Amino acid sequence: MPWTGRDGRFSLLRFAVLLLAIAPACWMALKWNMGWLSPKPVTDILRESGDWAMRFIVVVLAITPLRYAARWNKVIAIRRLLGVAAAFYMLLHLSFYFIDQNFIWWRIALEIVIRLYLTIGFVALLIFLALAATSNDAMVKKLGAARWNRLHTLVYLAAFLAIVHYFMQVRLKAYEPSLIAGLLVMLAAYRLLRKYRGEISLTAAVFIAMLGGLSTALIEAGYYRYSMNAPFMRVFESNLDFSALEYSWEIRPAWYVLAAGLLFTGIIAGRSVAGWLTARSSSAPAFRTKTETAPHR
Ligand code: HEM
Repeated sequence: MPWTGRDGRFSLLRFAVLLLAIAPACWMALKWNMGWLSPKPVTDILRESGDWAMRFIVVVLAITPLRYAARWNKVIAIRRLLGVAAAFYMLLHLSFYFIDQNFIWWRIALEIVIRLYLTIGFVALLIFLALAATSNDAMVKKLGAARWNRLHTLVYLAAFLAIVHYFMQVRLKAYEPSLIAGLLVMLAAYRLLRKYRGEISLTAAVFIAMLGGLSTALIEAGYYRYSMNAPFMRVFESNLDFSALEYSWEIRPAWYVLAAGLLFTGIIAGRSVAGWLTARSSSAPAFRTKTETAPHR
């Protein structure tokens, strides 16, 4: 059962994640039933399911860094569940594309071949589905842990293709794709650092947080420059202009990415302090003799 752990017992963590994973689908179903969507409900669900697929991919990729940063091994129990949620929203997205195209298969195939953003989305989907199909104990055993891990680094390629697919048709709404792209840069940096340096030090974590924020601002400015010919530096510098906060609470995505990176840094710092305190208390003698506790004269 999705809410039971490997020991077969009810897991509150898995149950909570399961509820969170199905909540967006329930919300979409409710909006559909109540007629709360726009006059083009199929397009709405197509977009919303794509958004949720992308968000779950980011959450799945954040699990391993979180596990190492917080030394929270139990969190790994929810990674597969979150992966299934991402695959579910991808398939929902694809199904609504089929509905949108009235199941005219020749036209669907032609569109995927001739429209670059669809071709890219299709390749991303194939990689994600291949990874989902090999995400079980039997396949890990069959491939061996090292080969399985190497194969699963492809998730970053698939995530990159998915974000390109996202950017290629958002037009003016580049806020969320920029945010997600920045988070992906940050998660890839954690992974690379752990692979080549082992531990992530506090300094490295601060550096990666800043890199994430900066990449987000650069990606956003690059997108507007490329798609709308907007002045690159003006968009980039708008990250430092807080005067608009008077009218709207919309903070630029770069700041959210920086905040996420600093939160991660805080987790590493907290763990280091906790480790230091435990080491100190375990090295202290269990009891003190009278002479030890007596004040020095
Ligand atoms: C065969 C594969 C795919 C097809 C045919 C497809 C089709 C589409 C189409 C037609 C749109 C534009 C909707 C519109 O604005 O009218 C779209 C948007 C989108 N797709 Fe895909 N897609 C595919 C794969 C994927 C994958 C693998 C992901 C992510 C994991 C994804 C995420 C998104 C996102 C985030 C959007 C933007 C939604 C928005 O505007 O808010 N797609 N897709």
